[in-house]
Amino acid sequence: MSKKAIGIDIGGTGIKGALVDTKHGTLLSERLRYETLEGGTPKAIAKTLKDLISNLPGSAGLPVGICFPAVVQYGRTMSAANVSKEWIGFDADSMFEAELGREVHVLNDADAAGIAEVKFGAARGQRGLTIVSTLGTGIGTALMFNGKLIPNSELGHLQIDGVDYESKAAYSAKQRENLSWEEWAKRLQKYYSHLEALLTPDLFIVGGGVSKEHENFLPLLKLKTPIIPAENRNSAGILGAAHYAKKHATD
Ligand code: BGC
Repeated sequence: MSKKAIGIDIGGTGIKGALVDTKHGTLLSERLRYETLEGGTPKAIAKTLKDLISNLPGSAGLPVGICFPAVVQYGRTMSAANVSKEWIGFDADSMFEAELGREVHVLNDADAAGIAEVKFGAARGQRGLTIVSTLGTGIGTALMFNGKLIPNSELGHLQIDGVDYESKAAYSAKQRENLSWEEWAKRLQKYYSHLEALLTPDLFIVGGGVSKEHENFLPLLKLKTPIIPAENRNSAGILGAAHYAKKHATD
C-alpha cells in the first residue's frame, strides 16, 4: 500500500508544503513555499493551497494533512493567537475538503512537530513525558506521553511574571528586542524551569527554525530535565501533518 500524503504547514508568514513518504518521514518532492496572503484569512489560504497542491506532481487524490498555529479540535480551529480571527470556531477540515476535493485533516502545528519527532526524530522510542516546544513567532508545545500525543497543550501561553510568556521568550521576541543569546537564554531558563516544575517531563525537545543554532543557547540552560534540539526543523510540521493525515485517512 502506498504510504504517501501531502503535508502542509501554515504559519503567520508563509505556507510550506510537500509530498511526503509517511513511512520513512522523507520528502518526495521539493518543498514549496508561498507567502500568506491578505492577513491569512481562510479564503486566502484555501486559494494558496490550491495553487500549491497543483504544483506538486504525483499528488492527485492523496490525503492532505495541514498544521496550523492554533488550537484545533476535531478539525475546527478554535483560537488564533498570531493569525486572522476569522479562524476562531471555524470548521477548517470541511472547508478545505470542499475547496481541495479530497480528504483533509487539520491539526495544531506544534502537535505536528511532536508527531514528527516521535515518528522520525529525537523522541523515537522515548518513554514517559516528552515536551516538544517550537520557538518561532509564538511558542508551540506538544505533550507526547509514551509516544502518544495529548493534543492542544498551548503551554506557550503560560502566564509568568503576569504576562503571556510567549511574548517574552518566543524567537520573535529575541528578534524584536534585539536580545543577545545570553539575554534570551535567561528568559528561556525561566520558561523551561516553570514547565519543569509544573509537569516533571522526562525530556525537552526544542524545535523551530532557530533550533539549528541550538549551540548558542541550549548549553546556557540549567535544568534537571535533558533538553535537546529537534531533528526535524523546517520540515517538522510538513512531516507530522502528512503522517497524521495518512493515519486518519478513511481508505
Ligand atoms: C499558538 C499555538 C501555536 C504556537 C506556535 C501560539 O501562539 O497559540 O497554537 O502552536 O503559537 O505556532
